[in-house]
Amino acid sequence: MENEYDIITLDRVDSTNTFLISRRDLWDRQFLMVRADTQTGGRGRLGRGWHQDPGKDLAFSMLYRPPGKRTGGPVTLRAGLAAWNALFGHTGIGLRLKWPNDLYFDGKKLGGILCEAVPDGDGRVIVIGIGINVNAVDFPRDIRDSSVSLKLVSGGDFAVETIMKEIATFLVPSLDGPDFLTETELKALAEIMDAVGHRVFFAHGGEKRIGVVTGISESGRLDVMTESGRTVSVDDAVFC
Ligand code: BTN
Repeated sequence: MENEYDIITLDRVDSTNTFLISRRDLWDRQFLMVRADTQTGGRGRLGRGWHQDPGKDLAFSMLYRPPGKRTGGPVTLRAGLAAWNALFGHTGIGLRLKWPNDLYFDGKKLGGILCEAVPDGDGRVIVIGIGINVNAVDFPRDIRDSSVSLKLVSGGDFAVETIMKEIATFLVPSLDGPDFLTETELKALAEIMDAVGHRVFFAHGGEKRIGVVTGISESGRLDVMTESGRTVSVDDAVFC
């Protein structure tokens, strides 16, 4: 497993995702990881920023080139599952996964995932960015009440590079799976994920709607029951 991918370690970069997206010269392999001690412009989902305590927290991105014309499948959920398994194995801490990309402990955010796909010839490359609050003990004021780290949960210090490699140990083989979630993955997700039964806002047919999540499909999309009783499949939603 160790030799299946190279690891680039940077002291400082704007964002490890942006780095991999802009460096086409590095796109000639199936897997490549980039980790940075400091990100000056870490990015989150929905155009948000991502805070990383320099030198204390884990921020890395994995470049993944799906073979041939495969789409790569439900990568964000596979990355969430890999991060959950690695963190549970390493620390014993049982997190919750909030669809599609957030890791939570006791209602506070501990990690996030940002997957970005870029077309390349007949195929595409996918950049899977993962940020984990590892050894931070304080956060900027705007996220202080809503964030937590492994250190704050457990009292211990953790080696960020070890955690990254353990996440890759789960993630790399799972990316070789089919372009849909397997029964085993759906079962594992159902145990760790908070989604079913929750109310969500989403857009459908150009209109803003509200509904209740009834399940997660093989594609990783949410099945949502609307107020009119119809079930629709949703790939972007905000929990109420
Ligand atoms: C989110 O919670 O919205 C996703 C956060 C993803 C943060 C990681 S840190 C490594 C990689 N580089 C980035 O700029 N973002 C991701």
